[in-house]
Amino acid sequence: MLVTGNDIMQKAHEGGYAVGAFNTNNLEMTKAIIEAAEEEKAPVIIQTSQSAIAYAGIEELAMIVRQLGEKASVPVALHLDHGTDWKVIMQCLRYGWTSIMFDGSKYDFSKNMELTKKVIDIANPMGVSVEAELGKIGGVEDQVRVLSKDATMTDPDEAEEFVNKTGVDFLAIAIGTCHGVYQGEPDLDFERLDVIKKRLNMPLVLHGASGVPEEDIRKAVSLGINKVNIDTDLRQAFQRNMHKFVQEQPDVYDPRKMLAPTTNAIKEVVKTKIKMCGSSNKA
Ligand code: G3H
Ligand code: ZN
Repeated sequence: MLVTGNDIMQKAHEGGYAVGAFNTNNLEMTKAIIEAAEEEKAPVIIQTSQSAIAYAGIEELAMIVRQLGEKASVPVALHLDHGTDWKVIMQCLRYGWTSIMFDGSKYDFSKNMELTKKVIDIANPMGVSVEAELGKIGGVEDQVRVLSKDATMTDPDEAEEFVNKTGVDFLAIAIGTCHGVYQGEPDLDFERLDVIKKRLNMPLVLHGASGVPEEDIRKAVSLGINKVNIDTDLRQAFQRNMHKFVQEQPDVYDPRKMLAPTTNAIKEVVKTKIKMCGSSNKA
C-alpha cells in the first residue's frame, strides 16, 4: 500500500528502528526494492532524485512507483530526494509523491528555515510529509555537490530552533557521513547524534549510508536514526553484476536476460540493508 513518509517515519521513531530509503531510476530497480521489502515484511521508502525524474520522466516514474507501491503488501512511500528546484517540488506534489525532501543546505540558516517552511505550508495540508536538511553533507549525490572542506556537522542548538520554527516532519542531520564512494573510513559523530535525538525527540535521517560499516549503521539506528538513505551501494551492485554478466555471457543480447542478475543483486543489497535498519517484520 502507498502511504505518506510520516506514516512510516513516526512508527519507526516510536518503535526505535530505521527504514531503508532506496533510490530508484526505473522499473527494474523499483521492482527489486519492493520485492525485497515484501520478502522482509518491511516498510520501505522509495526515493527519486531530481535527475532520476529528468531521466525517466515525472509521470512515468510516478506511475511506476505509485502502481507498484499500491499493489505492494507492505507500506511504501514515494519520496523526493534532495529537492532543490521549486518547480520540480511542485510537480512532485501534483503527480502524487507522498513525501518531499527540501534540501536548503546550500543556504544560510535563516534562508534554509524560511524556504523549508514555505514548502511545509504547501505540502503538509496536501497530506505530504516534508524532510529538511541542516548542516551540509559532503560528497556527490546527483546534482548536489559539496566539497569536503565545505561539509559542516549539524549544530544541536540550531537543530532545535529549526524544528520549533518550521515544524518539519523529519530532519536529515550531518554527523560525518558523505554521499558517494568514501575516500577512507567513515567517521561518525555518535555523540552529536545522541544529543540531537534527545533534544529533538523526532524522526531523524542519515544520508550517505552506502559504504558505512554494518556496526556503525546499527549504532546510529540505536541512537535514533529512523531513515537510512542508500543509493551508491545499489548502483555499484548493478555495475558489478552487469560487468560480470557481459564478460561471462558476451553473446546474450536480450535486455531482459541481461537485467535479471543486476536486478537480483540490487534486491539482495536492499534486503541486507533492511536487516541492518531493524525494520524486518515491521510492516
Ligand atoms: O540522498 C541519498 C543518499 O544520501 C544516498 O547516499 O549514495 O552515499 O548511499 P549514498
Ligand atoms: Zn542524500
